[in-house]
Amino acid sequence: MNKFCAFLSNGINIEKRSLGYSVKPCCWYDEEIIAPDLTPQNIQIARSKFSHIDSWVPACNACETLETHGGSSFRHSSFDVVVDDDDTVQHLDLMLHNVCQNACIICSSDFSSTWYKQTGGVKPFMFDKLQFENLKQFNLDNVRTIRFKGGEPFANDLHLDFLALIKNPEQCDIQYTVSAQTLPSQRTWDTISKFRLVKIEFSADGVGEQFEYIRYPQKWNDFVSNCKTIRQIAPVNTLFRFNYTVNPFNIAYFNRFQHWVDTEFADNRLGDPTEINLHECTGELACDKTPPALMQTIETSNLQLQGMISMDRYTEHDSMIAYMDFWDTQRNLNWRSVFPELVQYYE
Ligand SMILES: C[S@@+](CC[C@H](N)C(=O)[O-])C[C@H]1O[C@@H](n2cnc3c(N)ncnc32)[C@H](O)[C@@H]1O
Ligand code: SF4
Repeated sequence: MNKFCAFLSNGINIEKRSLGYSVKPCCWYDEEIIAPDLTPQNIQIARSKFSHIDSWVPACNACETLETHGGSSFRHSSFDVVVDDDDTVQHLDLMLHNVCQNACIICSSDFSSTWYKQTGGVKPFMFDKLQFENLKQFNLDNVRTIRFKGGEPFANDLHLDFLALIKNPEQCDIQYTVSAQTLPSQRTWDTISKFRLVKIEFSADGVGEQFEYIRYPQKWNDFVSNCKTIRQIAPVNTLFRFNYTVNPFNIAYFNRFQHWVDTEFADNRLGDPTEINLHECTGELACDKTPPALMQTIETSNLQLQGMISMDRYTEHDSMIAYMDFWDTQRNLNWRSVFPELVQYYE
């Protein structure tokens, strides 16, 4: 196991690219290593480019920045996820496609085919099923955690083709990050019930019309209804989490969201508590565009949010407001009426 970061030795993040497959130690690693296909040999060549790293390199900038500001990083969490002291792949992050009906204001065509229709950029893509044949030859026997990102992982059943490669599901946890725009298929329930633990993480960045603004064009009532249906029919090995991507527009409204989870979705059918995970938005609505005066008004008992607030990294916000104004015109929305308490900090 790599002592600097266990993902460097035991993690892989695989994403489809136009010229092949990106193979990295984790989703935050900021250097593209493209393998033409996923033969075991090509995967090992890609892994050899990062497995020896033993100190900060530019590609690990996201973790280094967080740690420099006193935050907890993905590198820290690698030592919770990786259990065996060897060089086998134990943690897998997979992005099989970018099919998605939403065009959330924080997102882009990297993850959403609907964004592609509106802006161009990354064309809709899909993992080639032939790659599953290559992956059959790769040692996945020691995989303990698999996380499916998207696109919308439940938009199709491609994830099940991958799960069919796992020979010992009883030792493996799986996690889906989903927007709950679609319900999983019956085949999904039948398959995932065989895994040790399933975590379904719903992405929700607000409540009510603030949710609808950020997660455009998804409707809040549909989201709530789908989350509750999934809770009702999911196998008993399923835990739930909500993912709140913190951006300059929802950072001051987290308490509202926490209250909704506490009152409407506090646990699964067996009483296991729902977790809330916060992570920072990057790109057009990056957290460093939150004015310090607004930050100072936020009161929270959430430790992750406290950590984010304590980081002093404001840059500017004019570019973000221009972006919001542009998309408000296209979508017939008005951020000033959806987030009225924030107007004074941005004008
Ligand atoms: C890209 S989505 C894909 C999975 C699924 N469609 C969903 O929304 O949960 C995965 C996570 O990334 C978050 N996300 C989207 N845009 C982001 C950004 N610019 N910075 C950080 N996280 C972002 C989403 O809110 C979601 O929680
Ligand atoms: S639902 Fe997920 S992938 Fe789709 S636009 Fe929103 S954040 Fe991006």
